[in-house]
Amino acid sequence: MSDKRTITLTVNGTTREADVEPRRLLSDVLREDLGLTGTHVGCEHGVCGACTVLIDDKPARACLTYAVQMEGHEITTIEAVGEETLSPLQQALHEEHGLQCGFCTPGIVMTFEAFLREMPDPSEAQVRDVLSGNLCRCTGYQNIVVAVLKAAAVMREKRP
Ligand code: FES
Ligand code: FES
Repeated sequence: MSDKRTITLTVNGTTREADVEPRRLLSDVLREDLGLTGTHVGCEHGVCGACTVLIDDKPARACLTYAVQMEGHEITTIEAVGEETLSPLQQALHEEHGLQCGFCTPGIVMTFEAFLREMPDPSEAQVRDVLSGNLCRCTGYQNIVVAVLKAAAVMREKRP
């Protein structure tokens, strides 16, 4: 007998259904069942931040979330960011060389898309504090900090 449960959730603005076993993680259901492989999985222990998505507009670790908990919730993944043109944050990461292998980048983008919405004029210390939740093994972080501050400035200029 299958112990799968059908859940209905909104992913990137679209209502999706998935049949999931209660033990399965949101990160795995996004990647394996819904084909959204932009959400990366590194540590699977809530440490590296690579799997960060937005749940009801707040950053969350998809590897620490059971998919069945997401019934009725809204998930935003990296696939929804910069669909047509790069977001200011993605553009700044590109211009400032804020990524190398790119494995950590989706998690960092999701973390800071939410952060910059709430904190449009952050200090460098605030950016570094938030960035401490996302591990990057390539960049040394400095260029990510520069890119986030640049994106914040660009977004402030674009505000009406
Ligand atoms: S894979 Fe989720 S925090 Fe590392
Ligand atoms: S760019 Fe390679 S882990 Fe961050």
